[in-house]
Amino acid sequence: MCRIRFFNVQEIDHEYGYCYGYNKVSKNLILGNRKKLKNSNGMVFGVPGSGKSFQKKMEMGQVLCFSNDDIVVIDPMSEYKGIAEKWNGQYINLSQSAENVFYINPFHVPEHVPDKDRFIAEKAEFAYAICEQALKPADLTSRHIAVIDRAIRHMYDEYFKTYEGTKPRRRSKLACPTIRLMREYLQEHEMDNESARELIDQLEVFTDGTLDIFAREQSTSEENRFTVYGFSELGKRMRAMAMLVMIESITSKIKYNQSSGIATWVYVDEIHELWGDEYSLHAIERMWREVRKRGGICTGMSQNLVDALRNRATKTIVSNSEFMMILDQGVMDREILSELFTVSNEQINCVNGAEPGTGLIRFSDKIVPFSNKVASDNGLYKLFNTNFHEMVGNGG
Ligand SMILES: Nc1ncnc2c1ncn2[C@@H]1O[C@H](COP(=O)(O)OP(=O)(O)O)[C@@H](O)[C@H]1O
Ligand SMILES: [Mg+2]
Repeated sequence: MCRIRFFNVQEIDHEYGYCYGYNKVSKNLILGNRKKLKNSNGMVFGVPGSGKSFQKKMEMGQVLCFSNDDIVVIDPMSEYKGIAEKWNGQYINLSQSAENVFYINPFHVPEHVPDKDRFIAEKAEFAYAICEQALKPADLTSRHIAVIDRAIRHMYDEYFKTYEGTKPRRRSKLACPTIRLMREYLQEHEMDNESARELIDQLEVFTDGTLDIFAREQSTSEENRFTVYGFSELGKRMRAMAMLVMIESITSKIKYNQSSGIATWVYVDEIHELWGDEYSLHAIERMWREVRKRGGICTGMSQNLVDALRNRATKTIVSNSEFMMILDQGVMDREILSELFTVSNEQINCVNGAEPGTGLIRFSDKIVPFSNKVASDNGLYKLFNTNFHEMVGNGG
């Protein structure tokens, strides 16, 4: 039970704020504008079923209604399909089945590349991550990295050379580098190198056959303000790869399209799936850091705050997120949380065993106990609900 009488009254009441429920101390509405924060990125923590996705769906609805901003959701559990349909969004299901019609090429070159050297260096970095995934459980070594560097540099140098020599109106038709092309380069030029041969072997499943969805030319998609990438049908190995590819292509989208002056809200559900892997973690850290100045507003949803604080890199992500929602945490230590910000025992009581849709909300230095519960006969509840028994009318 959350005892609230010991709280100092703090209000979150920004101009053009979205509604995040009501303040349990003052009973006023919480109207917060994440764009007003120094760093708009955010995290939502809570045990499964505590209402993380529900809270974020409420925010997404407001972004769509009250702004011109775009939303991209990474949806590993395929639970945003209904919302995408209802809100005229685009649901892209990345699947290994033959019916799949949508391909994302992480090596795709956008129309406008302001700094080629930096672009190539970033793609090399990304290629390490992909190869690390492909090699697992074996490790990526400095020898592999040297091989990958050569391949990436060669592919992009060739591409940009051809690009320069092509008439401008034909340039958009040029074939971009792909993972498949990288493997072919290794086959042609590096067969006497043992590390290269390992990469060639391990990359095969990702370039030929059912796991090749990231190894082809990019599909063009119609512009839509609300895009959801679902990949619940992908196997475990492919999921980590999919997360990486998604983050890479979303970062590019934000970066290279910022000129239109539109902010992009990026939601990564079940972000902890990425945290165990060094390169995925690095990719997220980079996205969190880089997109801020380019109109990106990232939100991660994860289960356990304490786990996130144990690792240096995840801790950096958390402490760089000025927006935070902490929902039910089971039982959490005050000491651990107080490393991050000042909290009282009463505030901790609001997140230990909290009901779904209640907890603590933080906007920069303000931390407020909130409730944002929606009645079960409300239309939004029906749309956002993930409780299987309730959905099938089984008395849940
Ligand atoms: N704000 C809320 N108001 C009412 N019920 C909620 C709220 N948030 C969550 N719930 C209930 O909890 C269930 C699980 O919520 P969900 O967001 O899917 O959890 P999580 O993403 O943390 O696993 C929902 O289906 C709903 O029944
Ligand atoms: Mg969820």
